[in-house]
Parts: sequence; C-alpha cells; structure tokens
Amino acid sequence: MTIISKDVSKAIALLNANELVAIPTETVYGLAGNIFSEKAIQRIFETKKRPFFNPLIVHIPSVESLPAIVSYIPEKAQYLADAFWPGPLTLVLPKNSTIPDVITAGKNTVAVRIPNHPIVLELLNQLDFPLAAPSANPFGSISPTTAQHVNNYFKNDIKMVLDGGSCQRGIESTIIGFEGDEPVIYRLGSTSIEAIEAVVGSIKIKNKKVIAPDAPGMLERHYAPKTKTILVDNLSEAIKINSDKKIGVLAISQLLEHKAISFQIVLSKSTDVQEAASKLYDALHQLDKQNLDLIIAERFPDFGLGKSINDRLQRATVNSKSV
Ligand code: TXA
Ligand code: MG
Repeated sequence: MTIISKDVSKAIALLNANELVAIPTETVYGLAGNIFSEKAIQRIFETKKRPFFNPLIVHIPSVESLPAIVSYIPEKAQYLADAFWPGPLTLVLPKNSTIPDVITAGKNTVAVRIPNHPIVLELLNQLDFPLAAPSANPFGSISPTTAQHVNNYFKNDIKMVLDGGSCQRGIESTIIGFEGDEPVIYRLGSTSIEAIEAVVGSIKIKNKKVIAPDAPGMLERHYAPKTKTILVDNLSEAIKINSDKKIGVLAISQLLEHKAISFQIVLSKSTDVQEAASKLYDALHQLDKQNLDLIIAERFPDFGLGKSINDRLQRATVNSKSV
C-alpha cells in the first residue's frame, strides 16, 4: 500500500532507509531517491521501466550545494541559476567525480536543478544528500501532476507519495546544456525561451525529435496517452472530418458543440497559457480514461509556454496512426 501524506519527516525516514518517495515539485511529481544509494537508484529505473541510457536530474536545496555536484560553472550558467532558481530550469554541466555513473548514464555531465515548491525545499534542506528524481510515471507515458496520478501508476510499488497538491507549473523543467560556454536548449519546458533569452541572449535549440537522444525527453514518442491523439490548428474542421468516431476534445479556450464529441476539456477560458500548462497533463489523463476513439488537441499559438505545450502535444501524437 502506498501512503499519500504531507508528512515530511516520514518521507525523510524512508529516503534515509534507501526507499523511494514520490515528491511534489512545481513542474510535475518526481520519483525520488538518494543519489548515493545504489539500491534506491536501481529501484527508480526498475519502477519506471526506464532504460539505463537515460540519465536522472539531481535536485538540490540551494546554490551552495552546486559545487558538490558539478566541476565547472560557465558564466552564463551562473546567470541562469541566479535568474531562475529555485524554479523550472535544469542545467546540464560537467559532473563532479563524486556523482555516481548510474545517475548520469555514464556521461561526464550531470543535470541539476533547485525545484520551487515549499514542501520539497523543506525536504531537501533536511536531507544529507541530494535527490535524483525523474518524473513519476512509467517511461514514455503522461507525467503526473497530482499525488493521485502517481498513485494510479505506482500503487504498491512505492511506499509513499508526499502530497504537495496540484503542480502549479504543470510541464517539466526546461533543460539547458552547454557547447563550450554557450547555452543550448535540450528540452523545452516551463521556463520559456523568451525568458531565457532575456538573460543570456539568443540561444540554440536542439529539441528535435530524435531516435537516440541526448535528453530522452527528446524521444519522438513521449508524454503519450494510450488513445490515438492528433494535434490540429482547426478543431471544428477536424471534428467534422472525424464525426463517425467517438471524439474527445482538448481545446484552448472555447467549448465546441458537435454530436461526435463525447468528452471535452477547455484548458483556460481566459486563454491564460500558464493556466493551460498547469492543466495539460491532468486533461490528458482524464481524456485517456474515457474509452475514446480519438483525442483531438488544439495547437497553441507558437510562442512562450505555447511552444512547450505544442512540443508535448506533438510528442503525444507520434505513432498515432493517421485518421
Ligand atoms: O521538471 C522536471 O525536470 C521533473 C521534476 C521531477 O524535476 N523531472 C523530469 O525528469 O522531468 P525526467 O527524468 O523525466 O527527465 C529528465 C530529462 C531526461 O530527458 C534526461 O535524458 C535528461 O533530463 N538528462 C538528465 N541528465 C542529462 C545529461 N547529463 N545530459 C543530457 N540530458 C540529461
Ligand atoms: Mg519524464
């Protein structure tokens, strides 16, 4: 049985005993373990059915912990850390020799961030070690943004979900690596490109769909519902074309009427893109439970967080046969 609880001291006791605890963050829930515990880290990979070539993000409580994790900090990495931590930005930097190889999948770099959620910051501040935490979902499926989502996936596999409510940001952190001393975006996420460019100037994006990825968040199919999903610019037209099917609609701001629609979610009535991002994964979880033939998702205007939402929806549609 998994305990769902707000009890930080209970989470500390379990993590100290090399157990896994699902933790809330501002982005999505993570499946956390002590980075120095071989047993805990192995269990993370087993529980998620995650391939070992896919490295983990190290979560730390403050910038003071950074020199213990990384061996070099380029100037622009420092600017980004100062601007966005604690927050939804992950930096990939040369690793310190003390970081175990299983965390980094044998790479000489390590991904690190300070999450911005009061409960997880309290937890990290009280632990003697950082936490490795991938998103708390089976590899390739929709990320969890509530304690209940985690429990639905991992009932009985983990001892505890530390309940921090619904994740405020709702999409994973933006991941930035470095080529020489220049930042490169590896994964779009909850910190927008525009916000990043305001700090470090124009930035290269290597977020392409690839088969053998630098960051497996870049895998072509990821964040995916089981139901066939398509991403479209014109909802009404797509509904008309597919009106012989049982359709679920994921709309940006407007409710639609059509007899083929059997389930519909509007992400933000006021077209607030942060509100939409925070509701995105819960909407996909709900749509996926409705036994639909097809989910039709509406494409967002392609800037700011809209770009990150489109990225996730695009990956959710891969391998969905054309309909
Ligand atoms: O918001 C988030 O980042 C959440 C919360 C829990 O912090 N975590 C998360 O972790 O999304 P995960 O494991 O689902 O995604 C981490 C991504 C993977 O695509 C992984 O390949 C990439 O980070 N990554 C980790 N270490 C890396 C490294 N050394 N070089 C390149 N990519 C790396
Ligand atoms: Mg993930």
